[in-house]
Amino acid sequence: MNRNHGDGAPGVRRFPPGFLWGASTSAYQVEGAVHEDGRGRSIWDTFSHTPGKVHGGDTGDIACDSYHRHHVDLGLMGELGLGAYRFSVAWSRIQPTGRGPVNQRGLDHYRALVSGLRGQGIVPVATAYHWDLPQALEDDGGWAHRDTAERFAEYADVLARALGDEVGMWITLNEPQQAANQGYRVGTHAPGKTDLSLAAAATHHLLLAHGLAVEAIRAALPGNVPVGITIDLHPFRAAGDGAEHAAALLDAEQNRIFLEPVLHGSYPDGARAQVLPPDGLIEPGDMALASAPLDFLGLNYYCPHYVRLGDPDDLRVGESPLTGYPGVVNYVPPELPRTNMGWLIEPDGLYDALRTLDREAPRLPLYITENGCAADDYVDPEGRVNDFERVEYLEGHLDAAWRAIDDGVNLAGYFVWSLMDNFEWARGYQRRFGLYFVDFGTQRRLPKRSAAFYSEVARTNALPSSSSNGAGPSSSSPSPSEARKASTTVGSN
Ligand code: FCB
Repeated sequence: MNRNHGDGAPGVRRFPPGFLWGASTSAYQVEGAVHEDGRGRSIWDTFSHTPGKVHGGDTGDIACDSYHRHHVDLGLMGELGLGAYRFSVAWSRIQPTGRGPVNQRGLDHYRALVSGLRGQGIVPVATAYHWDLPQALEDDGGWAHRDTAERFAEYADVLARALGDEVGMWITLNEPQQAANQGYRVGTHAPGKTDLSLAAAATHHLLLAHGLAVEAIRAALPGNVPVGITIDLHPFRAAGDGAEHAAALLDAEQNRIFLEPVLHGSYPDGARAQVLPPDGLIEPGDMALASAPLDFLGLNYYCPHYVRLGDPDDLRVGESPLTGYPGVVNYVPPELPRTNMGWLIEPDGLYDALRTLDREAPRLPLYITENGCAADDYVDPEGRVNDFERVEYLEGHLDAAWRAIDDGVNLAGYFVWSLMDNFEWARGYQRRFGLYFVDFGTQRRLPKRSAAFYSEVARTNALPSSSSNGAGPSSSSPSPSEARKASTTVGSN
């Protein structure tokens, strides 16, 4: 290990020259304007309007109104000094029913966004699919239906031709594992299905869609623009004796099930047959498509998961049920810090995930395409949002990223989730992840303390020494890794 701090300033951790600092959002979470300019209905419109699916009955109908206010949002990015902005394109704005004629007004919107970004020297990073499938495609079977992958390739071709190489990086899919698992197996996300065989089919067709889209984008833009995919990894850790097998099984079924096909062209050995697509669905050439060499890999990291042996009908403190894994429960060790999502705060999990990717795909450029935390933010009487927890979370995770780079991982950029508070899927507007606080009544955006912190990091390409990071009072509490070390009951995988 070579802890080279670079410029002699005590404790300052420098990132490599050219490291890309960005922020992420996604279409349904920020755009609003769901009936405008010919946009078609997506599965999230349907899901959010179904009673009981989203906290408080919230919907993305208005969200941050970014469709109309993208100039305001560009101003925020300028204020922060961002190098890149990761956004997603709403498929149903481009092809309202997911197939057939292109809706020019939808394309014009993204063209304006991309040229606005370029005008400010910000690299546009476009995700083609961030969970908002056109409803008409879902009506025909959605991701469980092979044709959806073909439709996605057509849509990707339209995007690549229209937005061309103005887009600096293309991401085919965001977290396909969540789309298959939450969308088709546990039903907590759109389209809300709870069927193992649909989920297994969706898994395969998402991978196929990715492969076909890589091919389509490259054909439209030969050799020009980097293409990759964003995968979410959650280290699974066994808490207590006997849970090692369950942790390894979850790792296979929820991490490696996308990682191995994309990087190595095969499904993981350790996954159960019920989770894997049946052989009949896998046509010759599919796995080669899914594993086409990538220009980069995007990683979304939030937290690890601890699991232990337990009874979902007789839960103990810190436990919650784990659908589909009999005799095993999720466990949040009470002594470990967590965010208000209940997600554990463990920067070492990010370090571990980066090292895993570096082992699996040596030298492939990696980007952290999402990382961040929800907190109980509020505007104080002086009009400030002092989100000390978020500053501390970011500082801890950026330190983990820096350590990984220092240990040889080819990490090329970091995107915070999120630029601003937005529609947090099934949690609605109750969970705030932004660097900017959004007053959803007035659509006013207000920089939080974390915006100043992150801006300083992005501008200086360095993480200041932890004593000067602005984390304030909470920085004196034990760091997550200290807390983890102090825990003797919790094992690691
Ligand atoms: C990720 C999603 C993103 C956001 C964060 C908190 O899984 O990709 O849209 O909701 O979680």
